[in-house]
Amino acid sequence: MGEMNIARQIESLREKIRHHEYRYYVLDSPEISDAEFDGLMRQLQKLEAEHPELVTEDSPTRRVGGKPKEGFAKVRHSRPMLSLDNVTSEEELRDWDRRVRELAGAHAKVEYVCEYKLDGLSMALHYRDGKLARGLTRGDGETGEDVTTNVRTIRSVPLSMSKDKLESAGMASNFEVRGEIVMPLKAFDRLNVEREERGLQPAANPRNAAAGTIRTLEPNIVAQRRLDFYAYFALTETGEDAFAEQDEALEALATLGFRVNEHRDAAKTVDAVLQFVARAEERRNRLGYEIDGVVVKVNSAALQKRLGYTGRAPRWAAAYKFAARASVTQVESIRVQVGRTGKLTPVAVLTPAEVGGVTVTHATLHNADEIERLGLLIGDYVRIERGGDVIPKVVEVVDDEAHPRGHRKFHFPEKCPECGSEVVRAPGEADYRCVNVDCPARLRESLLHFGSRSVMNIEGLGEAVVVQLMENGLVKTISDLYSLTEEQLLTLERIGKKSAGALLGEIEKSKEAPLDRVLFGLGIRFVGERTAQALADEFGSMDALMEASQEDLEQVNDVGPRVSESIVEFFHEKRNRNLVERLREAGLRFTAEKRRRSSKLEGRTFVLTGTLPNLTREEAKEKIEAAGGRVSGSVSKKTNYVVAGEEAGSKLDKARALGVPVIDEAALVEMVKG
Ligand code: IVH
Repeated sequence: MGEMNIARQIESLREKIRHHEYRYYVLDSPEISDAEFDGLMRQLQKLEAEHPELVTEDSPTRRVGGKPKEGFAKVRHSRPMLSLDNVTSEEELRDWDRRVRELAGAHAKVEYVCEYKLDGLSMALHYRDGKLARGLTRGDGETGEDVTTNVRTIRSVPLSMSKDKLESAGMASNFEVRGEIVMPLKAFDRLNVEREERGLQPAANPRNAAAGTIRTLEPNIVAQRRLDFYAYFALTETGEDAFAEQDEALEALATLGFRVNEHRDAAKTVDAVLQFVARAEERRNRLGYEIDGVVVKVNSAALQKRLGYTGRAPRWAAAYKFAARASVTQVESIRVQVGRTGKLTPVAVLTPAEVGGVTVTHATLHNADEIERLGLLIGDYVRIERGGDVIPKVVEVVDDEAHPRGHRKFHFPEKCPECGSEVVRAPGEADYRCVNVDCPARLRESLLHFGSRSVMNIEGLGEAVVVQLMENGLVKTISDLYSLTEEQLLTLERIGKKSAGALLGEIEKSKEAPLDRVLFGLGIRFVGERTAQALADEFGSMDALMEASQEDLEQVNDVGPRVSESIVEFFHEKRNRNLVERLREAGLRFTAEKRRRSSKLEGRTFVLTGTLPNLTREEAKEKIEAAGGRVSGSVSKKTNYVVAGEEAGSKLDKARALGVPVIDEAALVEMVKG
């Protein structure tokens, strides 16, 4: 093949990969499996290795590049990166709104855009010729640190964009985007599991973890951490506003392929802002990332200019901060729990305290080192914080007049609190473990894990039932669940015919769970939800996985030597092989089926505008995407339909001007119907 042809082939592969990166990392809606994606990536790597002269900086293979040699250079911002004034109550927000309206003048039309206040660190990205040229942290606001090598590894940051895209977004090819880098909760949890496994202190919260990550000098570590970037400002090369209105800027950023938080809304009144805040607070616990409030911005850039700044913060924006989800309470005692791997975890038993609307009675202390680090004594008062998930953390010991110190030092037990066996701590590990593989706590926790919602989803298999099943000798391994009979269940306390039938039904139904859930349910050390999915995708069957060597396993994304060793060890053990065989006999799924989505709206692009009568914007988007369609932020000739609701604005006009068909919610619902 000629060089020209190869060049074209490489560029077309890159475009494909960019598209799938966008689908996966920005839209959270992949069109192909991870394995297929990796296949494309490998093809490109191979071609680039054979033709090093054709490698370009913006190739998707080049996300992880060289290390910054001398730390991070300091670079001046095009315009200062400011922080926002906080408001913390309805009253303060109303005051702020009144001031804005006063300053704007009686005749000015004041409109706001509400966005989530993402809890991460702000970042400025400079693009030259449509290519990522530089990433700067906020630093002191005037000068930031050049962390380009690290930012490049974040998959939701486009390395380059085509002229077409720039044009359809109405953007010059040199520009600056500002936004927030966050660590998604899943990535944060994974990081802490990993840190714990390695005997390190867990990171305190996703914001610190993200900030620490972006400043590490190892781009490949940054790449593994799965940070995310959400864009919220579009500036020109010289730091001017790139668009006349903030909502336009957000739509353009989405069109360019940036991740723009889907939770955003225009608000004409302060009451509408308050409604947005209330909804955000309600959703807060169900998001995959942390937010600590809502940012309200004046929509018009011209009005922003007129309102100007007070010292370090703009008058045209405010941060409505949610009440901190923290509280101070007393540690009454420390209990030790045994997990499904035999790991002993100390847990603080707390005087019940309310944290962000939830009553907290326990908080994990992770391990003995953490207790040491906190300097915690029984009887101490501690500050507890709750993140996006419900599991609270002990942040620090409080020591002041109102909160005197405790007295009693905690000693880690030398015997397992459940079975009395010896407890050991392997050299270099933070955790103590019960040595008894038949420790009843292990079986109990394994069963609870197996039945839990994110695994086999067996409703009714709660702690009370599991304990009884074990005590009555009905279940000695996970697979025994599948030979339970109604008669047996009826011997348990508080189980009648109805609940016995329901539980058996749930157990039966769980046989339909896909292979990745079964794998996750086995409780192989280091094999979490994501890894289980990747393994199922790649190997396609339990048998292939059981036969895989460490080397084979490490071909899978995210699988390193530690994980591969753990998997091989697991399947090497006879009792585990027996368990797998019995699950096979029970009829569980041992092969993977690719989850196919409908393709009714394949290739169709929709734009949503205005308020729909029944569906929220996200619901409408989900419906369209589930049917294989795409939702774009702005109307162009390529748009197939504009779905318009009440108070549809400029997009509707544009659709009419371009002759794009306009439909309503009912028509959309009809379209996506199977
Ligand atoms: S606007 C001058 N929008 O909150 C305007 N900031 O104190 C400042 N943040 O430093 C930023 N989400 O790191 C803006 N949607 C959002 C935001 C946001 C999070 C952070 C940002 C900023 C801080 C404000």
